[in-house]
Amino acid sequence: MLHKYLLLPLLASYGAAVTISVAKSGGNATSGLQYGAMEEEINHCGEGGLYAELIRNRAFQGSSKFPSSLDAWTAAGDSSLSLKNLTDPLSTALPTSVNVKGSGTAGLVNAGFWGIDVRPQKYSGSFFVKGKYSGSFTASLLSPSGKVLASTKVTSKSKADSWVQHSFTLTPKSKSSDTKNTFSLTFDGSKASSGSLDFNLISLFPPTWNDRPNGMRKDLMQAMKDMGPTFLRFPGGNNLEGDTIPGRWKWNETIGPLKDRPGRATTWQYQETLGLGLVEYMEWCDDLNMEPILGVWAGLALNGDVVPESELDFYVQDALNEIEFLTGSVDTEYGALRAKVGHPEPWKIKYVEVGNEDNLSNGLESYKAYRFEAFYKGIKAKYPDIQVLASTIDMTIPEGAGGDWHLYDTPDNFITKFNMFDNYSKDHPILLGEIAATEPNNGGAGIDWSNTHFSLYPWWIGTVSEAVLLLGAERNADKIIGTTYAPFLMNLDSYQWSPTILSFNSNPDETARSTSYHLYSLFNHNIMTNTLPSESPDSFGPLYYATGLNSKTNSHIFKAAVYNSTADVPVSLTFEGVGRGTKADLTILTAPDPFTMNAVGGDNLVKSKTTHIKAGKKGEFSFKLPNLSVAVLSTN
Ligand SMILES: *[C@@H]1O[C@H](CO)[C@@H](O)[C@H](O)[C@H]1NC(C)=O
Ligand SMILES: *[C@@H]1O[C@H](CO)[C@@H](O)[C@H](O)[C@H]1NC(C)=O
Ligand SMILES: *[C@@H]1O[C@H](CO)[C@@H](O)[C@H](O)[C@H]1NC(C)=O
Ligand SMILES: *[C@@H]1O[C@H](CO)[C@@H](O)[C@H](O)[C@H]1NC(C)=O
Ligand SMILES: *[C@@H]1O[C@H](CO)[C@@H](O)[C@H](O)[C@H]1NC(C)=O
Ligand SMILES: *[C@@H]1O[C@H](CO)[C@@H](O)[C@H](O)[C@H]1NC(C)=O
Ligand SMILES: *[C@@H]1O[C@H](CO)[C@@H](O)[C@H](O)[C@H]1NC(C)=O
Repeated sequence: MLHKYLLLPLLASYGAAVTISVAKSGGNATSGLQYGAMEEEINHCGEGGLYAELIRNRAFQGSSKFPSSLDAWTAAGDSSLSLKNLTDPLSTALPTSVNVKGSGTAGLVNAGFWGIDVRPQKYSGSFFVKGKYSGSFTASLLSPSGKVLASTKVTSKSKADSWVQHSFTLTPKSKSSDTKNTFSLTFDGSKASSGSLDFNLISLFPPTWNDRPNGMRKDLMQAMKDMGPTFLRFPGGNNLEGDTIPGRWKWNETIGPLKDRPGRATTWQYQETLGLGLVEYMEWCDDLNMEPILGVWAGLALNGDVVPESELDFYVQDALNEIEFLTGSVDTEYGALRAKVGHPEPWKIKYVEVGNEDNLSNGLESYKAYRFEAFYKGIKAKYPDIQVLASTIDMTIPEGAGGDWHLYDTPDNFITKFNMFDNYSKDHPILLGEIAATEPNNGGAGIDWSNTHFSLYPWWIGTVSEAVLLLGAERNADKIIGTTYAPFLMNLDSYQWSPTILSFNSNPDETARSTSYHLYSLFNHNIMTNTLPSESPDSFGPLYYATGLNSKTNSHIFKAAVYNSTADVPVSLTFEGVGRGTKADLTILTAPDPFTMNAVGGDNLVKSKTTHIKAGKKGEFSFKLPNLSVAVLSTN
């Protein structure tokens, strides 16, 4: 873009308006993806979050990092619980089960993911049991004081020597004001022939988004849908890499019946069931109309171990198998496997990212030397139409491939990066795969990485600084594949990294859409299909902006943010070819205080005000933008 850099004193008072003239041509088509979502198992984002399963530790899965335990379970009545590795387990994937022993009312109680939301809706449950028992089971939802909120009897079909699955539904009559409710499953111990029964895979789901079995939590999906993400990057993030090479995320262990998914130690502080697996990720993309950006494991684990070049082929082939599983016809080996797990229709994959942050954990040297190239060549040879992305831009990226760049920083440092994309070549488009202002300015010291509990929530100055970086990307939107806030979700009752764009607990009514959520939502609902060059006698700062057109709606668009101004900034904006009397909507986001946060259980404090304005005599739109504001003007 052409800018005549006339430097104004830093604390100029804006008597005169910043005049901006936008040309009618000369811009570039944008990638169109713009603002997406990211998933990885951290903060109980999936497990105990988006994945709607209400029972924590449902199948007693363990690993060397997190040995199987009775976490979240307690015994009902005077029964006792013990973990067993039976000689005839439910499945090889789920070797450990619980033995419940008791002579009277026996059973077990689960605390949920720090509570269970109870309201008048249908809950679908199931469990496997082994042991001779001729009575019935009672499945209940209980209040914190033990009051029965819903209950049902399940006639036993159990057998002495095999695992039998039982299903039930629970329909509470009213909403519980407390969400620290529990789930209990009991039986009459006196009728169990050997005095005890073995249980495994005890599951309970509320209604899910689009009523999918094994589906997603509705309020979180609704929040995402309202934000309008256009793509989803999965399955990470660090969680893709794993702590060790054997501990990597293995796509083939995340598919098929739940009893065949072994679970896995996440990179973060808990075991995951893998109930939210590869197919569920793709269904999530289908349900929210998001373009998948598939991360494949690339030979680096977080402990710094790297697969040597001589052994890498196996992993390249595994990535190709994964892509075939998703996209191959049912005549291919892995396409047939997809059909077998219930999905004959192939999906389309346009973007594959090789690894995650391969410039860290001792990874860059081998990534540059052979790892990236091996995956790149392997994928391109079989799938020439796939856009392959490197997980870093700290290397020479081959022609046609893209890169992924991440930024966690203080607000002031975001501002200094406003122009960083101006000189990038569009031959190597960039995904801004993880972006977040994480800590307030602290005299230029940058952020403190010793503890990833940064600011609990996004706060308004941070959000405005993110807007400035996003505008730098929008001005170059032909080179930017898309941008995502990261991490995306956090369960306030158990998290490893804050802030996130959405935060929640077990009560869906308390989900917090953060200050940054409102920024992403505003920008996503005003997508430019083309940038348009602009001219101004004033340099950028404290007003930052991007200009363009949505050719589908034929709207001219101006997006802006004001950071660090001592006064309101008057703007006089013209679009070449847009004349007097043209109407436009101007939406301005502000917050009561620079440190405003939207908290779990609290109100949305971001103010959004839309006014309808008209172009004056010379086609100029005149308006003022306050300090610490984000704005979009869109012509009707
Ligand atoms: C469009 O792209 C060309 C080539 O990358 C660049 O020179 C020009 O500045 C871009 N225009 C805008 C409006 O960014
Ligand atoms: C079951 O087997 C696992 C893996 O071999 C082991 O770590 C665990 O201690 C065993 N649990 C019990 C209750 O025997
Ligand atoms: C999944 O694939 C890996 C190879 O990447 C293999 O070691 C593992 O045994 C497979 N798991 C199952 C359950 O087939
Ligand atoms: C790795 O890349 C990220 C950007 O994606 C950058 O912030 C970080 O400083 C890089 N790390 C190293 C060690 O170069
Ligand atoms: C914000 O303003 C202060 C005081 O005028 C100045 O010291 C600081 O550098 C400014 N920060 C940015 C990112 O422009
Ligand atoms: C981009 O390149 C131009 C010309 O080489 C240079 O003057 C400018 O400082 C560069 N901008 C950035 C942000 O590196
Ligand atoms: C403008 O915003 C900055 C943060 O960027 C804040 O520190 C400052 O107090 C604000 N100035 C005024 C006049 O409101």
